[in-house]
Amino acid sequence: MRFIVTKDYNDMSRKAANIISAQIITKPNCVLGLATGSTPVGTYKQLVEWYNKGDLDFSEVSTVNLDEYKGLDHDNDQSYYYFMMNNLFKHVNIDLSRTHVPDGTEPNPEKACADYEKIVKSYGGIDLQLLGLGHNGHIGFNEPSDNFAKVTHCVDLTESTIKANARFFEKIEDVPTQAYTMGIGTIFKAKRILLIASGKDKAEIVKKAFCGPIDPQVPASILQLHPDVTVVLDEDAASLL
Ligand code: GLP
Repeated sequence: MRFIVTKDYNDMSRKAANIISAQIITKPNCVLGLATGSTPVGTYKQLVEWYNKGDLDFSEVSTVNLDEYKGLDHDNDQSYYYFMMNNLFKHVNIDLSRTHVPDGTEPNPEKACADYEKIVKSYGGIDLQLLGLGHNGHIGFNEPSDNFAKVTHCVDLTESTIKANARFFEKIEDVPTQAYTMGIGTIFKAKRILLIASGKDKAEIVKKAFCGPIDPQVPASILQLHPDVTVVLDEDAASLL
């Protein structure tokens, strides 16, 4: 694992965007695995800025997102589809037919997850997977568990995740309790992984995930075994390393 410690959130975002840009420039038809949450917002903003300057071309890029809340449709401003449209897709020249987010409106979890796994496979592998990090060590929505889930599946969100994500909703009762997420196995198959984390509140879990034992109770800890992981942290998130 490579660690890059940056000054602050903006610096972290710029470094992460640099790595994604390099991927797009060196392989214009690459497959990007994308993440939501508050952490990557600055990274996407930077990519859009470089696109507007003419430095980036998304026309051949394909994307697969990590996860989606079950029950939220595309127009719901808390859906991850909506997040991706508004933070990245609608601002760049990406072909929307090649952007994918699990279908939160599909009520049948088996179908939703099998369909999504097929889509990911059809691209022949993710070149670069961007990840955030949940306070309990989750990646995508792979919550602490007794084993590492292999493929896309439906999860019951933990109370701590529901609480952490409540800040984006009007009231906590509005936060969906289930989500569809790529499995750890799906994520692990990506050729390269780029994990970003910022803030003092992430310092404890960063240390646990990357300096502690590999344990499905800390899902991100499995990344220690991946051959090509870059972790970009700001000084606060790296403060306990
Ligand atoms: C959410 C998402 C994750 C994200 C994480 C951290 O629940 N499903 O993909 O990485 O929580 O979010 P944030 O970046 O807002 O701290």
